[in-house]
Amino acid sequence: MNEQLAIHQVVSQWFRQVRPQILAGRKQGLEIENKTSRLDLVTNIDKETEQFYRQQIRQHFPNSKILGEEGAKEDINSAEELFWVIDPIDGTMNFVKQGRSFVSMLAIYHKQQPVLGYIYDVVADQLYWGGPGLGVYCDEEKLSEPENISLKEGLLGVNGPMIMSNYRNLQTVVKQSAGARIYGSAGIEFIHVLRGQCVGYLSHLRPWDYAAGSILAESLNLVVKTIDGNILDVVSSEDVLVATKRAFSEITALMAAK
Ligand code: IPD
Ligand code: CA
Ligand code: CA
Ligand code: CA
Repeated sequence: MNEQLAIHQVVSQWFRQVRPQILAGRKQGLEIENKTSRLDLVTNIDKETEQFYRQQIRQHFPNSKILGEEGAKEDINSAEELFWVIDPIDGTMNFVKQGRSFVSMLAIYHKQQPVLGYIYDVVADQLYWGGPGLGVYCDEEKLSEPENISLKEGLLGVNGPMIMSNYRNLQTVVKQSAGARIYGSAGIEFIHVLRGQCVGYLSHLRPWDYAAGSILAESLNLVVKTIDGNILDVVSSEDVLVATKRAFSEITALMAAK
């Protein structure tokens, strides 16, 4: 078995192990705090889920470095072996208000190169996983590469504040699509693009929001870059656009126009 699949055999178990804790934690009543504002929440379950992954990583892959949304943030450049990016609950607002439309995500790099990405839809109990050379799976179902459709043929996932402020002509971009969608979880948005249910997704994101999704999207030959066409950097916040090849060039051209 190659190294990538050996890692996957261990890691793929963790999501279903932590699921009961996440679901029961919400039922028992959440401890909710504001981080930077009332729109930026963290719960005890976000923190406990990240701790669960950190313990598993330390136990099974002791030479790792970790960047986690709710914990220490090590640098990918300091990683000699594996580097992990954790978003324990993505869509915390949905988790709190709706109890659905949230995911848990992990991304793994080796010597700065992507190895595996995981987006776990906790309520649906579906694990999207894959990486370079593997393709992308939803549990055992292999996903086919989405058709290379143009912007006008598909729905576009967007970020609420960016559409409201018409960030770089975003309203024009949306008008040329089949419509805008806002789901409140970057992971859920990536799943829609992976499945060909949306032509693209555009948002200002932190590394833990896009690390796993970008590994999966690239494994399906989708384009994932900044809206200026630059390669994503795992250590910074970026205006991220994931889309089919055709839609990517159409959207970036419209957004570059004065
Ligand atoms: C958030 C979600 C949301 C996106 C925000 C993220 P969080 O992640 O992915 O869709 O618009 O920018 O911060 O904080 O719930 O993990
Ligand atoms: Ca957050
Ligand atoms: Ca997130
Ligand atoms: Ca989060």
